[in-house]
Amino acid sequence: MLEEVVKVIEKFVDELNSPQVTKLLSLLPQGKMLRSKLILEITNDEEAILLSAIVEMIHTASLLHDDVIDKATIRRGKSSLNSLYGDKTAVMLGDILYSKAFYELTKLKDPIPQIISNAVAQLSLGELIDVELSREFNTSISRYMEMIEKKTASLIEASAKSAAVLASLDPTPYAIYGKNLGLAFQIVDDILDITQNSLTLGKPSMNDLKEGKTTLPYIYLYNRLNPPQKAKLLSLFKKELNREEREWLLEMFKQTNALEEAKKTAKELGERGLEALGKRDEKLKKIMTSLIDRTF
Ligand code: FPP
Ligand code: MG
Repeated sequence: MLEEVVKVIEKFVDELNSPQVTKLLSLLPQGKMLRSKLILEITNDEEAILLSAIVEMIHTASLLHDDVIDKATIRRGKSSLNSLYGDKTAVMLGDILYSKAFYELTKLKDPIPQIISNAVAQLSLGELIDVELSREFNTSISRYMEMIEKKTASLIEASAKSAAVLASLDPTPYAIYGKNLGLAFQIVDDILDITQNSLTLGKPSMNDLKEGKTTLPYIYLYNRLNPPQKAKLLSLFKKELNREEREWLLEMFKQTNALEEAKKTAKELGERGLEALGKRDEKLKKIMTSLIDRTF
């Protein structure tokens, strides 16, 4: 099924009649396709494949723009498009992919175009909050949660909700599941930034703090440190960390259990999502648990 989604994306891009764009797309490594897996788990007819292709194109576009914003050099284990071809090409490929995706989205049945396009507005607002929050060390859990709800959970929620619409199911429990899956996914991503090496991640490790991203594990850590330790943590904000500083951070995480606490939060959100589904679907349970317990 996922291969069919990839084929539809290639077909959509070929329809643009631009060998340059076709070539650029072929250079992008494939991601986890979480959103497609989720949609196709809920329903798997022709429309679901179209919806999956549209959502993946929007997601890819958002990552192309995100890598420009974050000045990222690596994405999915390979050199990012912005680092290979420059910011202008990466921004334009993003614009082309999401414009074509929106054109195809208008052909899907109501209210799917509204659900997805609204989520993309939320996603963009979330990225803007992320940029704003990165200016200073953020200690507000509610601001962090608002940001990840918009930046990451909105499109996952919209994917699950739209798939339920296609399958003529009650969209509400699927939307709640999708939102919590998205929140848990981002928190786990933020934990893995600290615990995993760059080879496993396919992007630099312990990069969030350097980027000014005070993610949930860092907020929990900050709240558990004494004043001199707090001051030391603040001094590392947005800094290229040396080995000793990395080791100090890992030791502090160990002493405070901040990583376990963040994982617990992800698990609680996961539980909330599964509760909304009731006994509806074993495979959706598996998607949630494997996502929370993943190591990359
Ligand atoms: C990754 O965040 C970024 C997102 C999930 C959303 C980015 C959204 C935009 C740039 C808005 C523009 C939208 C479109 C459709 C063009 P991250 O930096 O925390 O994750 P990372 O570590 O994987 O880079
Ligand atoms: Mg990024």
